[in-house]
Amino acid sequence: MSILYEPQDRVFTIHTKRSTWQMKVSRYGHLLHVYYGSKIEHMDLSFLVRGINRGFSGTPYDACDDRGYSLDTLPQEYPCSGTGDYRTGCLHAIHADGSQAVELLYVSHRIYAGKYRLPGLPSVRASDTEAQTLEILLKDRATGLEVILYYGVLEENDVITRALSVRNGGQTRILLSRVLSCCVDFPGRDMDMLSFHGRHAMERILQRSRVPYGRLSVGSVRGTSSHQENPFVILCDRDAGEEQGRCYSMSFVYSGNFLAEAEADQIDQTRFVMGIHPDGFCWTLEAGEEFIAPEVILSYSGAGFGLLSGNLHDLYRQHILPQAFQGRRRPVLLNSWEAVEFDFTEETLLSMAESAANLGIELFVLDDGWFGSRDCDKSGLGDWFPNLKKLPSGLSGLSDRIRDMGMEFGIWIEPEMVNEDSELFRAHPDWCLRIPGRKPNLERCQLVLDLGRKEVREHLFDCISRVMDESKAAYIKWDMNRSLSDIWSACLPGSRQGEASHRYILGVYELMERLTQKYPHVLWEGCSGGGGRFDAGILSYMPQIWCSDNTDAVERIHIQYGTSFGYPACAVGSHVSASPNQQTGRETPLPTRADVALAGCFGYELDVRMLSGEEKAQIRRQIEDYCKLWHVIQQGDYYRLSNPQENADFAAWEFVAKDQKEAVVNVVILHAKANPPFFCIRARGLKEDARYRIDGGEAVYTGNALMHAGIPIPVTQGDYQSIRYHIQQV
Ligand code: GLA
Repeated sequence: MSILYEPQDRVFTIHTKRSTWQMKVSRYGHLLHVYYGSKIEHMDLSFLVRGINRGFSGTPYDACDDRGYSLDTLPQEYPCSGTGDYRTGCLHAIHADGSQAVELLYVSHRIYAGKYRLPGLPSVRASDTEAQTLEILLKDRATGLEVILYYGVLEENDVITRALSVRNGGQTRILLSRVLSCCVDFPGRDMDMLSFHGRHAMERILQRSRVPYGRLSVGSVRGTSSHQENPFVILCDRDAGEEQGRCYSMSFVYSGNFLAEAEADQIDQTRFVMGIHPDGFCWTLEAGEEFIAPEVILSYSGAGFGLLSGNLHDLYRQHILPQAFQGRRRPVLLNSWEAVEFDFTEETLLSMAESAANLGIELFVLDDGWFGSRDCDKSGLGDWFPNLKKLPSGLSGLSDRIRDMGMEFGIWIEPEMVNEDSELFRAHPDWCLRIPGRKPNLERCQLVLDLGRKEVREHLFDCISRVMDESKAAYIKWDMNRSLSDIWSACLPGSRQGEASHRYILGVYELMERLTQKYPHVLWEGCSGGGGRFDAGILSYMPQIWCSDNTDAVERIHIQYGTSFGYPACAVGSHVSASPNQQTGRETPLPTRADVALAGCFGYELDVRMLSGEEKAQIRRQIEDYCKLWHVIQQGDYYRLSNPQENADFAAWEFVAKDQKEAVVNVVILHAKANPPFFCIRARGLKEDARYRIDGGEAVYTGNALMHAGIPIPVTQGDYQSIRYHIQQV
């Protein structure tokens, strides 16, 4: 049993393989957080919860003689505003009389086999034998507002998920202006927060900051999870590293606005919260109505970031990514974008496809520019029918020809958007998010369709189905190329406009759900100008996401390094592009570009017609290597062997097969030096006493030699040389 309840002491204990979570209903009925950390068997830990009389930290009315009992200092499971807890909180409600207070008290609970699901929202999936659920019902006596806290426990994965529903059990309207999904209170203040910041074409760059007195927040108010911050954060010991220290992660299963915040309080305790960003959010609950807050995935490691990432990578592969692709090799693709952008004809595409087929590429992806009047980014979005001037045989003719060459066909769409210069906009100008009487902010000349509206979703469902049926696509790239602004939905009354952003995301999820259910064997790749919506929400429908529009191998090392903390390699779209690189102008050797792209879902994005004979031979070998190694890379354990932000000399990473019989170690020299020092790299994750060969060579090494003594990196000439070791058990 991973969830235990002791009725006498009213203590709930949750155990996973290596962690314990405990909470307690206090003598006044509040649900207090007691402990989250390394596993502790069978023990009431409520001695940890202490209170002394402190000035300016009041007590609830019923505890007036118990001056040490203050909601302002006690650790809580789900803190609310307005009733004496002044720290960052989770729930803020405005009642019909204008009052803004909630005090939640325990009512009841239930424990059952299996994992709860959230209607309309993605969440971790698990069978009845893999997970257990705890639901705790809390109530605000004065107003009837009810909260059900959900805890999903995946014992083997060392994961606890949290979500909640808020129900208006009273008689009058309630406005919810802040509903975060999760809070963890820690004793002690000495903690760091790891967050993943960035910008378009440079996403998920690790930032480590000490949690200060006051609040440290990251988040997005862009309507998407964003390039600028990621809804994945870690709180850890100040000395935590890859292999040591306590660390706690929160991953939001949500693709819209988010807030992650840590606060060190007046008495050196730390609070960590995550949920929908409250800016611009306001949800109306009429009597009897319910609001469901999206899920947060929590994981804990007592042995550093490596184990934490490993837990999460396994969780994604087993319980989040669509299962049709679990254990299946993703096809090697060629994407047309960087080679030809909007400038192509049917002949251009067919000649590229022919060269691709000759190289052993398995999937030809036609990116932007194939539909409506789309000759540049100013027009055509919304008109999801082929441009017959460019493609006279239509989608079916083109895709048939490509299948005749022995490849599958894939296609790009950007369903959530519309250009003003499009047939769709001319027919339905009110279908986009914009404020009447105000000129909207434009990005890439496009506006956002209001996916909160049913008729918009119906229309898109029909259009995309038609594209799929006509092209018999085996792959779809679903793009989304701007942030939301000027948010106003024509289908909501003025008083409910604070719901529009969340309703938009619910609409996106409904459309993704319907389409991925209708076409379950199609490989869907998420994209938002690269990695602007790289999160567990999208990954619940689409097993991979185009990681970044930046395809420069050296910059990608940094992007993929940060991404690896929270996401597995099999979710990372990664392509070999031309040199000099389109975004940076940097020249890198072809083997280096391939080794970096191999650390993800492998493909090419360059004009394959321009390659030399030698380059073609190299690409054929790279594809053979990918077919040989994909199971280690996409299904194995990942190890960060260096931190490229700290080590300017080289970057190194490793994949180890689950049975530890095989590993791939990659090293890229970042900076060539005269009279160079020697570098050595220590492998990880091998069997200590097993015997291994490297690249099929004669020499035999024990696992402990490779892990503790290490592998000497050869001296190379020139920047950005790549070295790959394939380690196999003898
Ligand atoms: C976005 C994507 C690119 C490409 C272009 C097409 O920027 O991230 O990969 O598809 O759109 O317009």
